[in-house]
Amino acid sequence: MHLTADEQAMLDGRDGPGAQLAMRVQVAIGEAFDAPYMVPVERTHVALSNQEADLWFAEKLAAAGAVCRVRPTVNPSFNWKQFSAITDLDPADLETVKRTHDAYLKLGAIMTYNCTPYLEANVPVFGQVIAFSESSATPYVNSVYGARTNRESAQSALTAAITGVAPYYGFLLDENRRGQVLVHVDAPMATDFDYQLLGYFTPRQTGFQVPVFDGLHHPSREALMNLGAELNTGGNVAIYHIVGVTPEAPTVEAAFQGRAPEREVTITQADLDWMREELTDPYGPVDFALFGCPHLTIRQVTTVADLVRGRRLAVPLYIMTSSLTYSLAEKMGYLEDIRAAGGEIFADTCMDQPCWKFLAGKKGVTESPKCAYYTKRRNMSFVVTELERAVQAALEGEIR
Ligand code: F3S
Repeated sequence: MHLTADEQAMLDGRDGPGAQLAMRVQVAIGEAFDAPYMVPVERTHVALSNQEADLWFAEKLAAAGAVCRVRPTVNPSFNWKQFSAITDLDPADLETVKRTHDAYLKLGAIMTYNCTPYLEANVPVFGQVIAFSESSATPYVNSVYGARTNRESAQSALTAAITGVAPYYGFLLDENRRGQVLVHVDAPMATDFDYQLLGYFTPRQTGFQVPVFDGLHHPSREALMNLGAELNTGGNVAIYHIVGVTPEAPTVEAAFQGRAPEREVTITQADLDWMREELTDPYGPVDFALFGCPHLTIRQVTTVADLVRGRRLAVPLYIMTSSLTYSLAEKMGYLEDIRAAGGEIFADTCMDQPCWKFLAGKKGVTESPKCAYYTKRRNMSFVVTELERAVQAALEGEIR
């Protein structure tokens, strides 16, 4: 790989062993992908996971004196102050949370603890080269904004943040952003939840190829958030295009960069109905409701508040969101409405965290297939359905 004098000096240890280790990782990735050189990154987001390997790497870099040149925003952990009030926390989990916080703070991260940074805290523009990890974030920034990132791991995004550069390969190059499979959507797509189903189903048809959707009109930002999150949960899709919607696909021809699609597939309402059946546990009584994987927007929090205002939930209802949306919900009276009904909103929290141990062995209802997928290892089961219907289930204690 060709390195600039500045990059070579970092690799040789000029900026200390932390920066040197980070540059060694970046060079190794570049060599693995035959990248010719590095390019500067303008934004970074690290999928901090609050798990042992994440902590080990962050502490190792921090102890070696690494500091981020391009300060990253970070994924959620869990809000231990809020959870202490409702459940007993394992001291070992608490220690991991606090040490992870300290390590990332020392590295210079911006402690947003939010998995939708692309909506409010770290918003890239068209063509910007960035290094984002987090499975729901990568497709959003690549596809909806036309920014350029590879599907970074937490570690490679962090080393990009420290070095300020990323190897030039993959989705940073024009040719790899070209659509490969034309996906005709022959379904009404009336709700944001339909995009969850479409996202989860599509990789079964398109595999690792870049899908170009035709037949989707005016999806909301929540629908696009859902689509990306599930494309990267049901499969491994870091970029997609929607004809007439996303910036690199004003036309079908543009999405395929003037070439013919390698394949064409059609996804129908029957396919989405089948996916719904596959994703959900059987209907019936539920013990709780859990929303916000990815974090709910203020529009979605409004939907929940409107449905529960002045009523009493039959089972607890939990919402995960960003600290900004939490603060908005508080200022706008939604937090009070939801609490009065028997629910709670958590800032800075991911469902794949040990703070949810008290729900093990129970059955919930959620709007998120991603939530249902990740919590299987935590022995939770879920009915997966539209947000409005899930709230109704929490009000009644069952879903029919
Ligand atoms: Fe966010 Fe955690 Fe889900 S990071 S998307 S709540 S798995």
